[in-house]
Amino acid sequence: MRQARLTLDPGFAVGEVDPRLFGSFVEHMGRCVYTGVYEPGHPAADEDGFRADVLELVRELGVTVVRYPGGNFVSGYRWEDGVGPRGERPSRFDLAWRQIETNEFGLNEFVTWSRKAGVAPMMAVNLGTRGVREAADLVEYCNFPGGTMLSDLRAKHGHPEPHGISLWCLGNELDGPWQTGHKTAHEYGRLANETAKAMRMVDPGIELVACGSSHSGMPTFGSWEATVLEHTYDNVDYISLHAYYEERDGDLGSFLASAVDMDRFIDAVVATSDHVGAKLRNRKRIRLSFDEWNVWYMSRFVGEKNLAAERVPRLIEDNYHVADAVVVGSLLITLLRHADRVGVACQAQLANVIAPVLTEPGGGSCRQTIFYPFAHAARHARGRVLRVEPDSPRYHTARFDDVPLLDAVATQDGDEVTLFAVNRSVGDSLGLTASLRALPELEVVEHVVLAEDDRSLTNTVAEPDRVRPRRLDGTSIVDGELTAELPALSWNMIRMSSRAPR
Ligand code: AHR
Repeated sequence: MRQARLTLDPGFAVGEVDPRLFGSFVEHMGRCVYTGVYEPGHPAADEDGFRADVLELVRELGVTVVRYPGGNFVSGYRWEDGVGPRGERPSRFDLAWRQIETNEFGLNEFVTWSRKAGVAPMMAVNLGTRGVREAADLVEYCNFPGGTMLSDLRAKHGHPEPHGISLWCLGNELDGPWQTGHKTAHEYGRLANETAKAMRMVDPGIELVACGSSHSGMPTFGSWEATVLEHTYDNVDYISLHAYYEERDGDLGSFLASAVDMDRFIDAVVATSDHVGAKLRNRKRIRLSFDEWNVWYMSRFVGEKNLAAERVPRLIEDNYHVADAVVVGSLLITLLRHADRVGVACQAQLANVIAPVLTEPGGGSCRQTIFYPFAHAARHARGRVLRVEPDSPRYHTARFDDVPLLDAVATQDGDEVTLFAVNRSVGDSLGLTASLRALPELEVVEHVVLAEDDRSLTNTVAEPDRVRPRRLDGTSIVDGELTAELPALSWNMIRMSSRAPR
């Protein structure tokens, strides 16, 4: 068995874990909202029409913040359509996904759902087909205490207390030609800056995210971020990143190394942001909001233009196997490793649409394979992130040259130390030793693993438990050295705790 080594030392901390790294995303797209989180008449629906089975899974997943209402959808959205008496809300044709949007579920339903799910709402404003006025109005409707037309309207709609939404996205993917209201970096930068100023005039306490590139392969990547930040540096807190990964042309090796791309993407955006800060002689540091990331088999998607106009279509409902979960695990490891600069991250999306949770209309729900690494990290990656500097055997990939078989990160929270690791080897277990000498005496609490001999296995609503994490015996600590075996193609969480009485 090949061997990898690493060191856990509290002296080498990256930074504090921001719980908002474990965010998700609800877009009005496919069945994410309708028959996903919201389905009045379903046997498990609560008094608001929210699926209680999904709410329970969201709590178990450990999601902390949820971005809403899009996505590409937001670039054609009028938020006013989704508030007030349901009977008076218009149906509209959504330009992004060619769906008929009934507006049965809107802003106030989302905020109510968020409270029940125990997550913070992260709201996006439309800067594709709308502008400064509508965005400032939305902040007034949501956050202004009362005594103005829009805050009083919120009260009339049943919400006398302000929603207190603190995190806002200034539009979505406006660098993309597919976006309704696509803009150049200058056009977007000016608009985003003026919108940010107006939104802050209404509520000075909000945090703002400017749109970065839709992905690192965009022809304008780098220059888009630089230009947008030159316009907005003083008035925004975050720049966004989006990335989706899939296995292409049967190249599993490169797919398993997707985190290498995410890592380089983050480094490039940090460098670009700091370059702008230096040019502007501004010591403020822009943080990163990786507010769309996941595995998405985009090559199987027919494309927006080929979609038939429908009300609640089944759209990009990818069913994930173990290799997908291993990739999701390594993407989470990468986000944690950049905890000093990445403050927000949202897996896209939450239910049905490239999602950890699947539902059937009128039927059951289930956890996809990718549910597990997210749930483990969201629950146990707490405190400080430790840089572990693995020394690992490598393998060759077509896209990224030589890549380590082991990807790992650790967190320390008081007495608890947790190591998250993936073994990218498809055929072989990987031996792992970790020096713990710089830490107080630790004992293994559990080694949880997600791995299957048949890596094509997926979970479905009909067969929800084909793939489940299991506890692995044999992981031990002797004389300050951890020894473990990471099964082939696996996601691992090794929890340790100090022996000192607590
Ligand atoms: O998450 C699906 C879509 O992917 C979003 O609407 C868009 O922002 C991205 O391109």
